[in-house]
Amino acid sequence: MSEVKNIGIGYSVGDFSQPRKKIGIGLFGRGFMGKAHSNAYKTISYMFETNYVPELIAISASTVENAKAAADRYGFKNHYGGWKDLIADPDVSVFDNVCVDSLHMQPCIDAAEAGKHIICEKPMALGREASKKMLDAVNKANVKNALCFNYRFQGAVRLAYELINKGAVGDILHFYGRYHQEYALPLDLPVENVWYQNMTGNSQGLGTHLIDQARFLVGEVASITGDMRSIPKQRPSARKNGAMVDVPYDDSIRALIDFNNGATGTIENMSVASGRYNHLYWEIYGTKGTITWSLEDPTYLNVQLREAPVPEIAGFTRISCTLPNHPFMKIWWPAGHNCGWEHGHINLIAHFLDCVANDKEVGPLCATFEDGYRAAVILETLAESSKCGKKIEVVY
Ligand SMILES: NC(=O)c1ccc[n+]([C@@H]2O[C@H](COP(=O)([O-])OP(=O)(O)OC[C@H]3O[C@@H](n4cnc5c(N)ncnc54)[C@H](O)[C@@H]3O)[C@@H](O)[C@H]2O)c1
Repeated sequence: MSEVKNIGIGYSVGDFSQPRKKIGIGLFGRGFMGKAHSNAYKTISYMFETNYVPELIAISASTVENAKAAADRYGFKNHYGGWKDLIADPDVSVFDNVCVDSLHMQPCIDAAEAGKHIICEKPMALGREASKKMLDAVNKANVKNALCFNYRFQGAVRLAYELINKGAVGDILHFYGRYHQEYALPLDLPVENVWYQNMTGNSQGLGTHLIDQARFLVGEVASITGDMRSIPKQRPSARKNGAMVDVPYDDSIRALIDFNNGATGTIENMSVASGRYNHLYWEIYGTKGTITWSLEDPTYLNVQLREAPVPEIAGFTRISCTLPNHPFMKIWWPAGHNCGWEHGHINLIAHFLDCVANDKEVGPLCATFEDGYRAAVILETLAESSKCGKKIEVVY
């Protein structure tokens, strides 16, 4: 990493006059997440007061033409047609995998073997075995690694984490969480057009986020009893002129969880929930109070404390997590000026680059490949439980 001078502008950007270490970024994928991560790198370079600066070295997509278009749009210096050239580029020190789920494992293993630090989008890979191979590869290569469970980096979620760890709501008794969207409606939508049927199923797409929120906020999962299913068993296939075919992946999970610390949990995850566009919601009940949060209203944390300073106001307080002493807000805007969905990615990637530049631990605040692997194991155990109809202990 060489050094570069930077000048800062705008509101509360701090002192940018010091030299900053360049961290070369290689981005694999140019779709939805390619855009979200490119936005993060560009924003970090002028909003965050850091001793590093991300440098957009190269982007890679399924074709050279697509990669070129993405490089022009997002501002990467180079472009490639696959992941191998990207990894071979000596100026790339962080490999960021925002490609489809089926292309998480091998490119990340190759990147680890080449000594690159790695960010990978969720889910970790196609199941427990593939996830373990990725985990072994980063551990063997001793490279920094982050799994992109971006909701850990929403300010209100981080505040909930801090409140729980301070003991504000006492011992956790129960976690209730759901993550619903409506992308698989109508039920006769061709199977190829259902967003997560193109990847690995709704539980991998959304359920994995919910499992990570439960683990992050409550603790490790000990056992699980679950039901996993496709809601319509068959859908028309556009590739087969509308002929009905079996739906290969799940639309829905429902599960009961036991945590190691004695808390219980209930989670639900559906892709056919009409009107739910991106509905991640949870409630955490403790001995001294309750916390709730919704991604559809992400700035606010709802907190109830049984020992309120004035007994008449013992109900829920809706906290606007925008004050300077709230997580991440010093970086962003003055009190009352909200952040949104994309700030989760930006905060996460800034944290990871800080760990790379300053040799810090990525966890426990940011999910690592260990967390991605554990989420995969929990989902696979849930699927096993769904088949046999019994509670199963999770063995990591
Ligand atoms: N953390 C989140 O909030 C979040 C949200 C959406 C998606 N994701 C995850 O991000 C990843 C990407 O999802 P997306 O929504 O950006 O998908 P997308 O379909 O918008 O983009 C996928 C990218 O992969 C590329 N690609 C596909 N096949 C390829 C191949 N054979 N070789 C090279 N490139 C190929 C495509 O060209 C495209 O650039 C997935 O793993 C998904 O689960 C995470």
